[in-house]
Amino acid sequence: MTTTPRTPSLIATLPGRCYTDPDVFRREQEHVFESLWFCAVRSSDLDRPGAFRTVRVGRESVIITRTRKGDLRAFLNVCRHRGARLCTEESGEIRRTLQCPYHAWTYDLDGTLIAAPNLIKMPDVDRVAYGLIKVALREWLGYAWVCLADEPPSFEDTVVHAAVERLGDAAAIEHYGTDNLALGKRITYDVKANWKLIVENFMECYHCATIHPELTEVLPEFADGYAAQYYVGHGAGFGEAVEGFTVDGSEGFGKLPAVSAEQDRRYYAITVKPTVFVNLVPDHVILHRMFPLAEDRTVVECDWLYAPEVVESGADVSKSVELFHRVNAQDFAACERTQPAMSSRAYREGGVLVPSEHHIGTFHAWLLERLGGEHDGPVHPTPPAPGKTR
Ligand code: FES
Ligand code: FE
Repeated sequence: MTTTPRTPSLIATLPGRCYTDPDVFRREQEHVFESLWFCAVRSSDLDRPGAFRTVRVGRESVIITRTRKGDLRAFLNVCRHRGARLCTEESGEIRRTLQCPYHAWTYDLDGTLIAAPNLIKMPDVDRVAYGLIKVALREWLGYAWVCLADEPPSFEDTVVHAAVERLGDAAAIEHYGTDNLALGKRITYDVKANWKLIVENFMECYHCATIHPELTEVLPEFADGYAAQYYVGHGAGFGEAVEGFTVDGSEGFGKLPAVSAEQDRRYYAITVKPTVFVNLVPDHVILHRMFPLAEDRTVVECDWLYAPEVVESGADVSKSVELFHRVNAQDFAACERTQPAMSSRAYREGGVLVPSEHHIGTFHAWLLERLGGEHDGPVHPTPPAPGKTR
């Protein structure tokens, strides 16, 4: 089979096997999801002491719970005795203590071992040392972000920086007050596609005119195919006749109080690598969290967040939800359409990125650098050159 020569307009994607090979996925679990900060849960979902949620982070199950003092804590979901999974439910409430169903070792909400059959006869057992293994946790934008690394990277440099780099101003994202917004709607999508296809799709707008008729009506510049959302500080303007970020362009809600005049009537998208997309519009925030479960399966939780008074009043949020729900469904269908072809011989060398997609090369270069830390060789012999945008 011959290789098609590249031109300056067309740069290489990753080869197909990066999207299908379980070994590549295992390396991503280790060097990406288990090494970086991972957005796990909306803090307000854990609204009382003992409320918990279990999430898959890389190859690990992590329990996140709220303590009696009101803080969030994260632990590996593994009993220190002989390793039984402590919680098998996705969410729930720990009444007072967390008891292993196997031999009844019992932990408090801080993770300390507080009881076990015959523990009194083992006075040498250090209850803190044999407590649950803690996982680093930070809260930002009203979400709990966890990191499994022994020495987590700087949260500011790896997470917060994505917003600063995209918006060109550290304060700009704070104007939306995302921490204090209320959940108006959550939709969970089970996408039969590799997580990187979903990231790449979010990073480009070359597909917008083809598959997003409602979105390009609201944001006319998206129809040009240029990823306007990726030029530093630029927000895509609403169309002239558009009143709000809704499925039919009808009026939304009042703008969030600190959103500036320059941010009004604009949409900003931010990719926080590896698994988060933040979408900012004047009256709400839409945040996607991905949970890559296999090389060909990714669960995406999408939250629509509004001013608390909007949600408390029972206002109808369906028109704004419907807009991005359609966008999600259109995007994920495109990713699912692409996934099976990743193992085709036609895609052995990968595909190409057109100029308006070249910045996706920076994502590929970033990923290859992370995976390149291992000795069994890079996943791609000639990494694509980083794109010129951003
Ligand atoms: Fe948990 Fe034995 S494995 S108490
Ligand atoms: Fe899209």
